[in-house]
Amino acid sequence: MNKYLVIGNPIAHSLSPLLHNYWFKKYRFLDSIYEKKKVEKKDLKKIVERIKNDEVKGVNVTVPFKREIFNFIDTAPYEVQFTKSVNTLVKENDKVVGYNTDQQGFEISLEENDWDCKDKKILIIGAGGVTPSILSTFIKVDGAEKIYLSNRTRSKAEELKKLWDKALGIYQMKKDTIEVIDWEKKSELCDLIINTTSVGLTKDEKLNFDFSDYNNKKDVLFYDLIYNPKETNFLKDARIRGNRTMNGKMMFLWQAHLAFKMWTGVSPTIDEEVIKLLD
Ligand code: ATR
Repeated sequence: MNKYLVIGNPIAHSLSPLLHNYWFKKYRFLDSIYEKKKVEKKDLKKIVERIKNDEVKGVNVTVPFKREIFNFIDTAPYEVQFTKSVNTLVKENDKVVGYNTDQQGFEISLEENDWDCKDKKILIIGAGGVTPSILSTFIKVDGAEKIYLSNRTRSKAEELKKLWDKALGIYQMKKDTIEVIDWEKKSELCDLIINTTSVGLTKDEKLNFDFSDYNNKKDVLFYDLIYNPKETNFLKDARIRGNRTMNGKMMFLWQAHLAFKMWTGVSPTIDEEVIKLLD
């Protein structure tokens, strides 16, 4: 049996097993199984060892271990060494490699909606393990005009800014493109507001930003990376205000698509059936 895992804490919300097991069945990998596993920080080393010993074939990593797991892998591509954010583990040439498929997954999800960051102002809420993947999407030639970062623990947002400030020159972006603002403080009006925190994973959780300036702003997109629940309070409030909304479902599907391809060599189709599967 080829065993695959998604590890995190909490993990109950994860739809990765449903999705990957559906693809295993569809593409006739009948000796493969994908499970979710709630783990603690102390278990991460063991998980990597299990991949090395071929007890586990592949692992997805989610909240809150995307950064922590970097300390236990053998190697990673350049961009992952820069961001230290890992969501997919696989054994290659006897080494456990840490990849990140979130960044591409996120980028594809925006492209599918014809959303281009050129000259746009963006507010990123959160500075956890997934945030580097989001941030790097907007730092490129013809990238964003302005990126505001707000995190409960301000120092983590400052660290991200420090890291990415070094890259701005490479892409001919202005030195002050990235600005850290206090937690839940107002920034100037933005075109895209993204929740990258885990606030909203449970139904009654809520961010306390004052978004009243966005009333009836139909072109502003509120994007929550959370896909389960489908509509967090962040998105519900945005819908009521008249903003565009998007949850993390398509990003989730694309990051899973890329991981599945890495593990099996098969590029699974993303069609209406698989989109419905997650509803
Ligand atoms: P992961 O690495 O998998 O993204 P994480 O590093 O724990 O998980 O990141 C979770 C994000 O959600 C962080 O931005 C975290 O803010 P802190 O850096 O201040 O911890 C944010 N977060 C989690 N719970 C929160 C809460 N109750 N209020 C505000 N932010 C919260």
